[in-house]
Amino acid sequence: APLPAFDYTVFGGTGDLALRKLLPALYLRDRAGQVAAGSRIIAVSRSVLDLADYRKKAEAAVRRHVAADELDDALLARFVERLDYVSVNATSSEGWSDLAERFVGRGDEPVRIFYLATSPSLFGPICDRLKAAGLVTPAARVVLEKPIGRDLASARAINEQVGAVFAESQIYRIDHYLGKETVQNLLALRFANSLFEPLWNANHIDHVQITVAETVGVEGRGDYYDHSGALRDMVQNHLLQLVCLVGMESPVSLLQEAVRDEKLKVLRSLKPMGPEEVGACTVRGQYRAGAVTGGAVPAYADEPGIPTGSTTETFVALKLEIANWRWAGVPFYLRTGKRLPAKMSEIVIQFRPIPHSIFPGSAGELQANRLIVRLQPDESIRLHLMTKEPGPGGMRLRQAPLNLSFAETFGARFPDAYERLLMDVVRGNPTLFMRRDEVEAAWAWAETILEGWKTQQPKPYIAGTWGPSQAIALIERDGRTWHEDDLSNTPF
Ligand code: BG6
Repeated sequence: APLPAFDYTVFGGTGDLALRKLLPALYLRDRAGQVAAGSRIIAVSRSVLDLADYRKKAEAAVRRHVAADELDDALLARFVERLDYVSVNATSSEGWSDLAERFVGRGDEPVRIFYLATSPSLFGPICDRLKAAGLVTPAARVVLEKPIGRDLASARAINEQVGAVFAESQIYRIDHYLGKETVQNLLALRFANSLFEPLWNANHIDHVQITVAETVGVEGRGDYYDHSGALRDMVQNHLLQLVCLVGMESPVSLLQEAVRDEKLKVLRSLKPMGPEEVGACTVRGQYRAGAVTGGAVPAYADEPGIPTGSTTETFVALKLEIANWRWAGVPFYLRTGKRLPAKMSEIVIQFRPIPHSIFPGSAGELQANRLIVRLQPDESIRLHLMTKEPGPGGMRLRQAPLNLSFAETFGARFPDAYERLLMDVVRGNPTLFMRRDEVEAAWAWAETILEGWKTQQPKPYIAGTWGPSQAIALIERDGRTWHEDDLSNTPF
């Protein structure tokens, strides 16, 4: 169904996120025919720029970040025509009347959306000024980029400030991992198949691993990143959202609040870590100079914008537990980091071993089943099974994968997460966004780790390796190992 027309006002309109993700995503939706006539994108930032210059900047960004075969000069020209630019100072009265003028005579049709791609310290002030400028209509929506705060108290303060202007139903807190195809596929895998759910618990699952590895460093975002670090930047939001989708009970439907209600229960079941658990169950790391995918890279502390002697972590590994009936005693091992050997995100569900073997002499070959959900790259779902090795020489066992590659099976282009999520805001569908109580529950748990880390320096690791050796010890101490993709080249 065609979507209603919209006015997307993007604060931080000249920033990295707007240029790299938001504008390309909106262009691609426009190209797909989803952007109704009369829709506008109003970029807002402090810089004094004229519209022609902004349009040039935006066009260059779309050309840079969209695949060549998805670029179409005529469509891009039409898209750029939808762009407007207003220079506004978020913390003074400058520019607000110019912005308000853009809305004279526009009611709640088109859908009015304010996207705050700025530092979270500006969310409150921007909302106040939007209200004072008379721009907040009852149906207007506001989109908040992460991070929402840097601990529970600051997240609460931001939620209070935004909540004083917008009702919770008008607020869309984005976690772009929820817009990724394979992440949504977790819902299909678990709740559209009868095969897995009976086994999806502590009786049959030995442990779960979640890895989100990146090859990039801080990509010119040093100032933001150094105040944040991997726990706040990735674990508190993206990785915990993955934990929720793996761990939650079946929601009663996909409508309204059902999925978010279930995710919240998982977050509230996370076992808080005292100082001892933080010492035993978490590893924080920071990269030193090394080489990633063949090129030499500097140490984190030598990256532009990073103060020498910074103790911010660029890597986290940890073991958590969901303390409820389904999961008690099943460790979830999480790891994420910058400057690791590959860009790769996956979830590994390790099933328990068989109770008894009838295959004499095969003990070493028998491996417990493992389900691997690969989020990126090469989206796939793979199930490792034990099979008989072909041949007349008796019963030799070998592990082999059942492999569902999404590219091979569907052949379609995979939309970027932002494409889906930006349009969900236009549709008014909040399911894939974080609710206030979710964000706060995630902080309440993450904070127990931050507290324990106050006296802990990050452990060094060489860029281009899988993190500090302590991260390997974390899982090996329990008699387990991080999943290595030794079957990735096995033909389907
Ligand atoms: C962002 C983080 O939220 O996610 C970045 O701020 C990180 O530091 C990025 O690089 C990773 O997203 P993706 O989609 O590339 O896995």
